[in-house]
Amino acid sequence: MKKILLTALIGGLTLNAHASEVNSDLQEARQMVKEFGGQLKPALKGAMKAGGPVEAVAMCNTKAPAIAKAVSEKHDWNVNRVSLKPRGATATPDAWETQTLKWFEEQIAAGVSPKTLEKFEIVKAEGKETIRYMKPVMTGGVCLTCHGSAEQIPDGVKAKLAQLYPNDKATGFKEGDIRGAFSFQKAAN
Ligand code: HEC
Repeated sequence: MKKILLTALIGGLTLNAHASEVNSDLQEARQMVKEFGGQLKPALKGAMKAGGPVEAVAMCNTKAPAIAKAVSEKHDWNVNRVSLKPRGATATPDAWETQTLKWFEEQIAAGVSPKTLEKFEIVKAEGKETIRYMKPVMTGGVCLTCHGSAEQIPDGVKAKLAQLYPNDKATGFKEGDIRGAFSFQKAAN
């Protein structure tokens, strides 16, 4: 795994930035994963416990984007979650994100631990450099109530999801599948 991460890093380094900048941006992105994920999980668990899964859908609908916004404002990066099977309004991946999500899937299928997987790159497009970072989000047992098979999702949750997300693709996941990824980006100075 070390080798893979290093390749991603060196890719970024040789492209354009000074090692120290790359390093501090990477450290910040990792910190943002902790802050974003660290707020999402308790919010989800708390909502499931307090109001049940249907209420928790509403929580994910409003609170997840609000947490993303707060982390984004604190760090001055664009903060999002994306998936090859998206649910949320902003969850459809762009070309770089699609490529990275597929790369994550291949790495995981090849036995790489998702805990150590991440992608950091300085991407150049149309004369602009963008610092980009992604980290996989894995499917746990608790996620299946809203992202699992038709049998695992209660009727009330199905109805709420259909109402809020008529184009929902984020079902049919199994425990251990990659559900999507955190995706952060900002302009390189
Ligand atoms: C109570 C229902 C519910 C549960 C349980 C749940 N989610 Fe979600 N999830 C949602 C909803 C609703 C959205 C769309 C949020 C939005 O509108 O931005 C979502 C969106 C996401 C996204 C963003 C990408 C996308 O497709 O929109 C990821 C990643 C995600 N969930 C991962 C998880 C993981 C991992 C778990 C388990 C730890 C989990 N979810 C548990 C309801 C749920």
